[in-house]
Amino acid sequence: MSAMLEVKNIHCAYDAVPVIHGISLEVNEGELVAIIGANGAGKSTTMRTIAGLMHPVSGTISFMGEDISKTPASAAIKKGLSYVPEGRRLFSKLTVRENLELGAFATKDRKVIDERLEEMYELFPILKDRRDQTAETMSGGEQQMCAIARGLMSKPKLILLDELSLGLQPSLVERVFETVIEINKRGVTILLVEQMVQEALEIAKRGYVIQTGTIVYSGTSQELLCSEEVRKAYMGM
Ligand SMILES: Nc1ncnc2c1ncn2[C@@H]1O[C@H](COP(=O)(O)OP(=O)(O)OP(=O)(O)O)[C@@H](O)[C@H]1O
Ligand SMILES: [Mg+2]
Repeated sequence: MSAMLEVKNIHCAYDAVPVIHGISLEVNEGELVAIIGANGAGKSTTMRTIAGLMHPVSGTISFMGEDISKTPASAAIKKGLSYVPEGRRLFSKLTVRENLELGAFATKDRKVIDERLEEMYELFPILKDRRDQTAETMSGGEQQMCAIARGLMSKPKLILLDELSLGLQPSLVERVFETVIEINKRGVTILLVEQMVQEALEIAKRGYVIQTGTIVYSGTSQELLCSEEVRKAYMGM
């Protein structure tokens, strides 16, 4: 059986400047996989390309057996692929509830939307308390919860999480990651990108290390955590 997500030898560029030079990776149904790497390595570009916000210059991306290399993000969401971008990107003047409802834009059924809202409020009780508050008035951690919940409102099969830890204090990072594990347990397949290498590998089953647009190491989290090269390059050891 083929993987849920198969990225094969993609090359990506901004204008004519190449930044991803032949990346291949796979995510199987039910897995929690991490992509790690330094600033500017190409993690977000890879995620945006998988999500359909940009398209690879060459190479293919398939999701649930279907080629989505040229599928726009709005259509990819409907197929069950959701993306939580780096930096949260909430609508700051909209309330928490309005932000969440935007995540379910493909659904018109009010009852379904309300059920999903309830599910999100159960998963993130803080969002229930803050549902009528505008996004901009929430703390960084609360905004990150809201961004994840918005990404889940489309009921994805696979969710791409880009640098959830950005700008959060360590105790909050831990809480956000606990929620990621919980989401995975509920059956959502996860591909996440992180600069917090140790923490990411502690929750993921497998990982890929990106360096200047190529994958330089891959393996189980245990293998990567034990690798001297990875420890030296990414964990300051
Ligand atoms: N919109 C853009 N236009 C032009 N170049 C870009 C654009 N976005 C990213 N790049 C370049 O592409 C390369 C990869 O960037 P990318 O954002 O994918 O890295 P990253 O691994 O996500 O980094 P970070 O950890 O800082 O988020 C970098 O050299 C970056 O300068
Ligand atoms: Mg990035």
